Amino acid sequence: MSNIVLKAENIKKIFSNKREKVEALKGISFSLNKGQMVAIMGPSGSGKSTFLHILGTIDTPTEGKVYINNEDVFSLNEKKLAKLRNKEIGFVFQFHHLLPEFTALENVALAYLIYNKNKREAFEKAEEILVNLGLKDRLNHKPSELSGGQQQRVAIARAIINKPSIIIADEPTGNLDTENSKKVMEIFKHLNEKYNVSIVIATHDINIAKYCQSIYYMEDGLIFSKNP
Ligand SMILES: Nc1ncnc2c1ncn2[C@@H]1O[C@H](COP(=O)(O)OP(=O)(O)O)[C@@H](O)[C@H]1O
Ligand SMILES: [Mg+2]
Repeated sequence: MSNIVLKAENIKKIFSNKREKVEALKGISFSLNKGQMVAIMGPSGSGKSTFLHILGTIDTPTEGKVYINNEDVFSLNEKKLAKLRNKEIGFVFQFHHLLPEFTALENVALAYLIYNKNKREAFEKAEEILVNLGLKDRLNHKPSELSGGQQQRVAIARAIINKPSIIIADEPTGNLDTENSKKVMEIFKHLNEKYNVSIVIATHDINIAKYCQSIYYMEDGLIFSKNP
């Protein structure tokens, strides 16, 4: 049995419009093992976000394949793909994308309610996760009433409420100070160690990448391993 939960084979991505063609990814192969936590570093414009979007199946490659648990994801129809994505993957972005009109608790519970209609269960689970992430006193606050670090912890709670096996985080600390970045990384580390969640994190910051077991580097649409 394969230990690989996420695999990309020769991914290419070309963005084209009337004026230009951008070759954002030029043939990337990558694999992530169960319980592995890896960082992808690289300068702005090197293709990190494009690659993570394709790995997470929220964008499609021009060429190449992505496998999640050995399933060739882009061969699935949209409904099956959405189901697989929602079951297996939790996303965390640089900007949290929380719904401004809803409280922390509601933002997290809503993510559960999309796939499970049990309202009481959704709110119980949301509360438990938020309390575990140190937000006991912020359950009923709206995003605008929370600090950047607190907002990002709510976004992480929302990403994990459906118990994904993979977390894809694109510059999750890009908007945070050192102390809050550290808190966010401790949370990822804990999820990785305690629940064996596989994690891919794009970051500019070597101090963030150091939390991971492996570091890859992207440059100009290609990926390199930095490990011995
Ligand atoms: N939707 C898009 N349309 C056109 N070009 C894009 C689009 N998204 C990204 N790009 C281009 O692809 C390249 C890689 O971008 P991106 O993946 O955002 O890099 P990174 O996340 O490493 O900063 C850049 O040249 C960027 O301008
Ligand atoms: Mg990016």
